[in-house]
This record gives sequence, C-alpha cells and structure tokens, in this order.
Amino acid sequence: MNTEATESVIFETIKLITMMNKKVEKALNDQIRVEAESSQAYLAMACWAEIHGFSGTAAFLYRHSDEERLHMLKLVHFVNDRGGQAVIPELKQPSRTYKSLNAIFQALHDHEVRVTAEINSVVDTCLKEKDYTTHNFMQWYVSEQIEEETLARNILDKLKLIGSDKGGLYIFDRDLESTNAALEGGGKGA
Ligand SMILES: [Fe+2]
Ligand SMILES: [Fe+2]
Repeated sequence: MNTEATESVIFETIKLITMMNKKVEKALNDQIRVEAESSQAYLAMACWAEIHGFSGTAAFLYRHSDEERLHMLKLVHFVNDRGGQAVIPELKQPSRTYKSLNAIFQALHDHEVRVTAEINSVVDTCLKEKDYTTHNFMQWYVSEQIEEETLARNILDKLKLIGSDKGGLYIFDRDLESTNAALEGGGKGA
C-alpha cells in the first residue's frame, strides 16, 4: 500500500471511530426540530401579545423565543462537533390567533411539558446506545426543563387568580416586564 492509500485508510478509520451513533444523531436532530418549533411558536405568541398591547408579555416571549433558538444552536454545534450532521428542519407556521393571555401561557406550559418528554426520550436513547458523552451533554437540557416548567406553571397560576380582571391583567403584564428584565440581567433562560 502506498503512502496515499495508507493515509486514506487511516482517515476513514478515524472517521468511523469518531462518527456519532446513528440513533443518537437522529434523536438529537429530532430535538433540534423541537427547539426550533418552540422558538417559532413563542415568536408567534410574542407578536400576538405585542399587537394586543401586552408589551411586557411580548418582551418576555421575544426573549424566550431567542432562548429556544440558542437551545437549538447548542444542539446543532454538538452534533456537528461529534461527527454527525445537524439537519435544519422545515417548520410549520405556528398559530396566529390566541383567545387570551391565559390561552397563550396554557399553550406555552403544555408545549414545555411535551418538550420535557422529548428530552427524556433523547436521554433514554443515549442510555440504550451507551453514549455517555451525549447523555452528559443532555443533562443541561434536563435541568433547563425543570426551570422552564416551573416558570410556566407559576405564570399560569397567577393568570388563573386574575381571571378576566383588566386591571389585574395590566399589572400582570407590567410584572412580567420586570421578570423579563431580571432574567435578561441574570442571563438566565426561561
Ligand atoms: Fe428549549
Ligand atoms: Fe423551552
């Protein structure tokens, strides 16, 4: 075997050794789609809030949408760095209309619960495939989901107390603006 052929065999062998497990790669690409869908959904909710005069809620949702895009990017880089290929998905148009702030945060909460289930399923695949590196990487998402679900539940509880009281909703929106500013200041994801 000449030098060129030897180098090619070495290269192919290294590629094979460092390639990401296909099932794990698929699970991570599915999760890339889920995070991208979250970002789109929250962006659509932000638009609704903005045109209905809920500026605090809009700011909160725009920031949340950005956070979800960062969650997606973190996965994209991980897949590409670990010998896989990130697939950027086509996305469905999210809903344009919502009945109320309550409906928005109910949808957001339910969405986060579904995302948690998806993340658990990625973790499950990592364990089945004995991919402990990706399992370790996914723990960040597991912790993030606990915080996101708690935040969504707390917001929903407040809205349930307020009901349809306009003054209450005004204060809620202003409070969310402060919550958003605090989250932005702390660099913490919602
Ligand atoms: Fe996320
Ligand atoms: Fe989320």
